[in-house]
Amino acid sequence: MTHSARFDLTGQLALVTGASRGIGAALARGLAEAGADVVLAARSHEALEEVAAQVRALGRVATVLVLDVSDSISIDALFSQLAARGLAPTILVNNAGTEQVSPSLAVTESLWDRIVDTNLKGAFFVAQGFARLLAGRPGSIVNLCSLSSEVGIPTAAAYTSSKSGLAGMTRALAAEWAHLGIRVNGLGPGYFETEMTAGFYADSGWRSAMLARLPMRRFGELDDLVGATVFLAAPASAYVTGQVLYVDGGYLASI
Ligand SMILES: NC(=O)c1ccc[n+]([C@@H]2O[C@H](COP(=O)([O-])OP(=O)(O)OC[C@H]3O[C@@H](n4cnc5c(N)ncnc54)[C@H](OP(=O)(O)O)[C@@H]3O)[C@@H](O)[C@H]2O)c1
Repeated sequence: MTHSARFDLTGQLALVTGASRGIGAALARGLAEAGADVVLAARSHEALEEVAAQVRALGRVATVLVLDVSDSISIDALFSQLAARGLAPTILVNNAGTEQVSPSLAVTESLWDRIVDTNLKGAFFVAQGFARLLAGRPGSIVNLCSLSSEVGIPTAAAYTSSKSGLAGMTRALAAEWAHLGIRVNGLGPGYFETEMTAGFYADSGWRSAMLARLPMRRFGELDDLVGATVFLAAPASAYVTGQVLYVDGGYLASI
């Protein structure tokens, strides 16, 4: 295999959840640049159509499907629609996620359920639907983990629990599905400026403390996540499964 073929996704179809903005939209564009056609899924139809136009401008096919990953009926409907249209993704980027910081003493059951149902339960049932639709063909799953898959973040107990669980789920599914030819890995972003992290980035004290904490002394750009995602999706990582690849400017490597 040539060097470029190892990273070539031509002929593959990628399903990206949470593709309406932020990291998911950037990864959808990045996978398209590597040659993949893309199914874009999230709750906001209009925003998905904007990302779809960007994918089409790269010469790839983009399909938009509305999905609420916290609702198993919505997940079932997504896979029924894919099957009905003859669309069979070989790459899944389980990116849809949510967070709302709260002191743990104030966390309600509904807040806990919204975060864990979106980030963990939703990711599992989307992975299950994807694996069923593969029906024996090889595939690659990339789960969006987090620094909190490894370390505890104060005022983010539900989020930390969901992302630690997602790293564990990545290993469990990797071990269970390797013999089916399905690889399951995680991508662990450090801090990236999106709607989810806007509150942190608006705080100049947080920004300067975090920059001092980061060995690379800079925040990540969304483009920094694309190479690692393409690698995990592509033949280049054919013997890699059950791993979380952190793209964090060295955060987890340093005290
Ligand atoms: N930004 C960071 O620094 C960072 C760091 C580590 C990990 N992450 C992870 O990266 C992923 C993307 O985060 P982001 O920073 O890009 O956040 P974001 O800008 O808030 O985007 C979140 C995406 O998830 C979708 N989403 C949320 N709830 C959903 C649901 N119930 N069903 C379907 N889609 C849903 C949103 O679309 P709709 O609202 O249209 O549904 C949106 O497309 C998340 O899993 C997050 O935990 C982010």
